[in-house]
Amino acid sequence: MSTPHIAAEKGQIAERILLPGDPLRAKYIAENFLNGAKEYTHVRNILGYTGTYKGVPVSVQGTGMGIPSISIYVHELIHEYGCKKLFRVGTCGGMHPDVKLRDVLIAQAASTDSSLVRNIFGGTINFCPIADFTLLEKAVANTRRLQLKATVGNIISVDRFYDEDIDNDKLRKYGILGVEMEAAALYTLAAEAHVQALALFTVSDHLLTGESCTAEERQTSFNDMIRIALETAIED
Ligand code: HPA
Repeated sequence: MSTPHIAAEKGQIAERILLPGDPLRAKYIAENFLNGAKEYTHVRNILGYTGTYKGVPVSVQGTGMGIPSISIYVHELIHEYGCKKLFRVGTCGGMHPDVKLRDVLIAQAASTDSSLVRNIFGGTINFCPIADFTLLEKAVANTRRLQLKATVGNIISVDRFYDEDIDNDKLRKYGILGVEMEAAALYTLAAEAHVQALALFTVSDHLLTGESCTAEERQTSFNDMIRIALETAIED
């Protein structure tokens, strides 16, 4: 079998899966963190691999950028391939003085301007996309065990990367720590399907200071985040 966007047979994708936006990050994670990783799809150059981490089968799959794109992959991974623990591993823009460049950020919740969330209840209720608490708790414990640091809180998943009208000061006032473009969809689709999801980020640029990471700095903090995600993914 294969879906319109993923050319894998049933059983080729593990229940535990890491989801970077960039397909080349999927390749990087497969080659540097998984054992015996094999590519199972390259439809549209969106790469997916399955291997093992500490003996446990784990997959890693690119999702593309933005809520429409990640929604396609997450839907097919959950409903066609049976994925049960899904981890977004991405970068975000820092929005708040509490987070610094290169920090790891874990999204306890994902606010959003996306119609995907707004339209669930026809505009009468604002559904709140939240992390799976068990995964969140384990990720925080693993961060400490690995002697790493992560900041946990609310982020915003926006539909427009270039949006001059967004009120960053007001978002900051309400404690929004970072901005990215996919987590709210992951949390919403996981909630709908009763599976577990968690989104982790490294802060690759900062909206308050205008700083951004060099490629090398981005890699180091990215690796910390991947270790936290993988250690959490393989726990029962
Ligand atoms: N905005 C939206 N998404 C992002 C950003 C940003 O500044 N940085 C990384 N992902």
